[in-house]
Amino acid sequence: MIELKGVAKTFQRGDHVVRAVTSVDLTIEGGEFVTVLGPSGCGKTTLLHMLGGFETPTKGTVTIDGQVVTGPGRDRGMVFQDATLFPWRTVSANVAWPLEVNGVPKRAARLQSAALLEKVGLEKFGNAFPGELSGGMRQRAALARTLAMEPSVLLMDEPFGALDAQTREIMQEELMRLWQESDLTVIFITHDISEAIFLGDRVIVMGVSPGRVIEDFKVELDRPRTAEARNDPRILEYRSHLWGLLAHAPSSPSGNGSQIT
Ligand SMILES: Nc1ncnc2c1ncn2[C@@H]1O[C@H](COP(=O)(O)OP(=O)(O)OP(=O)(O)O)[C@@H](O)[C@H]1O
Ligand SMILES: [Mg+2]
Repeated sequence: MIELKGVAKTFQRGDHVVRAVTSVDLTIEGGEFVTVLGPSGCGKTTLLHMLGGFETPTKGTVTIDGQVVTGPGRDRGMVFQDATLFPWRTVSANVAWPLEVNGVPKRAARLQSAALLEKVGLEKFGNAFPGELSGGMRQRAALARTLAMEPSVLLMDEPFGALDAQTREIMQEELMRLWQESDLTVIFITHDISEAIFLGDRVIVMGVSPGRVIEDFKVELDRPRTAEARNDPRILEYRSHLWGLLAHAPSSPSGNGSQIT
């Protein structure tokens, strides 16, 4: 279980203080799939980084299974918007890398890497280099590499944001399937309302100035969700509710123009 209690984060920029996140109280149960939706600059990445232990809260605490998060740990895997693979290593070697770093013998690491690549549908591309892959394939490889560490929590920061609409839907369905077959807790950031609804058990809606949680919205769509769930009439209702929330939230004075879609 993940618990955030009175979590706030401020940054000093020049002579003024940026309140990136203020007083967030949130409980996420093990195995939940939680999506975080909000306009640019509302503190989504900051929140995720505090969960990952890459940033320390200015106030409040983040605990995982009762332990206060004080830094990054193997229990939490991070997937970024742009797949960060080593361009000089093959896909298979990229996925094996964290295993090798953690002392798994090379042969065993490569075998595990092959199994992971199969899991994400890249079994035929182990010998390819990242530059030879499409954006979606690179993102699958990055996911396989994160999964190699067998995290219990997967932190995903707009992982499909750079993909075309069709690839994005395929990736969403595959992530859904992977999660369903695992015990993973997933916290997934997105700008896309439909993506937040389709994936999430809950959508945490954030607002700006200051960055904060404005609603914890429960998605009642049945599990497992396949492509057909996209036609569920409740989605329209959910969409218009979430649109309303975001439209009435103040917009970020320093937002970089990222769009809610
Ligand atoms: N290291 C930092 N130093 C100073 N200010 C920062 C830092 N990181 C984030 N901020 C500020 O904190 C606020 C929240 O940033 P954050 O990146 O968390 O937003 P976001 O919701 O992820 O936005 P986006 O959707 O554009 O990715 C912004 O005003 C940002 O400028
Ligand atoms: Mg961000």
